[in-house]
Amino acid sequence: MRAVVFDKAGGPEVLRLAEIEPPEPAAGEVRVAVRAAGLNRADLLQRLGLYPAPAGARSDVLGLEFAGEVERTGPGSRAWKIGDRVMAITSGAAQAELCICHERMLLPIPAKLSFEEAAAVPEAFITAHDALFRLGGLGVGEAVLIHAAGSGVGTAAIQLARAASCLTIGTSRTPAKIERARPLGLDHGLVVAGGQFSKRVLELTAGHGVAVAADFVGAAYLEENLDALAQGGRLVVIGLLGGARGEVDLGRLLSRRLQIAGTTLRGRPLEEKIAATQAFAREGLPLLERGRVRPVVDRVFPLAQVRAAHELLGKNEVFGKLVLRF
Ligand SMILES: NC(=O)c1ccc[n+]([C@@H]2O[C@H](COP(=O)([O-])OP(=O)(O)OC[C@H]3O[C@@H](n4cnc5c(N)ncnc54)[C@H](OP(=O)(O)O)[C@@H]3O)[C@@H](O)[C@H]2O)c1
Repeated sequence: MRAVVFDKAGGPEVLRLAEIEPPEPAAGEVRVAVRAAGLNRADLLQRLGLYPAPAGARSDVLGLEFAGEVERTGPGSRAWKIGDRVMAITSGAAQAELCICHERMLLPIPAKLSFEEAAAVPEAFITAHDALFRLGGLGVGEAVLIHAAGSGVGTAAIQLARAASCLTIGTSRTPAKIERARPLGLDHGLVVAGGQFSKRVLELTAGHGVAVAADFVGAAYLEENLDALAQGGRLVVIGLLGGARGEVDLGRLLSRRLQIAGTTLRGRPLEEKIAATQAFAREGLPLLERGRVRPVVDRVFPLAQVRAAHELLGKNEVFGKLVLRF
């Protein structure tokens, strides 16, 4: 089967399509014929040698999410039948014609969505849902700050928060992305220059601050994020695009009862990933089925153009997701 592989760390030029051995599904697993696969920042980091695949996943084959059809079921696997349209996050090797996944990690693709749209769902929506509602404890109607509002995860987070009647405040360094995010349910968009946003967030929340800040920037926004939180507010660190090391005044955490949580989905034990997936299945999938939230696909690339897709994602010019078509 064809797959996106790389032999040594480097730029997009190290990527190539190669024939590799198809994986066999073990007990409780399903093999999926992949029709489309989403591209993620983590793919760029893995290609650069900065994000090793977790134990059990191939580190030379890229891909963290897919949409396709069930092609074979492993021993004892009964949840799905051949031909079912499914989508999921995986620990790796999703950018391959056949991909293995635990049956409890699979979600049914809503009838209205194409494979290409569905491939843009799992990473963005499960990450956003888990970060906002499970880790951040975001409640109905609360105020939330969502950075990188035009990112794959950001566009999902805005829509999920809006569906929970939250006040959504989003940031981007690119004014055009703020404009494109408004129809998704962004109440207030802030173009961040020089890393300053907390003063405006406090103004927009009558001086209270937000209940939850969903952050992809890390160190560069740490101080301002804490300033933007309400009493008892939660900062959820999802990405580190602006650096990993920062200084925290623990006295502010104590006196204002703030919490900081960090998350990666990929490295979690299978049962935790199943729990996150099933929580999204209960609370997020019905919204997708009813069209109240939707995947935002910026561009679809044929698999043969995977290098061009990596180049584009690395330029920070994408709004929503890039998808590879098989
Ligand atoms: N923890 C997890 O489980 C998990 C899962 C999925 C993704 N992630 C992380 O979440 C982040 C977003 O992922 P994605 O795939 O949705 O990203 P994406 O679509 O590629 O978007 C990232 C956006 O962040 C903004 N950005 C980049 N560098 C920045 C910086 N130094 N300061 C401020 N803004 C910056 C850029 O937009 P503007 O410059 O226009 O604002 C860029 O378009 C990544 O860090 C990714 O690794 C984590």
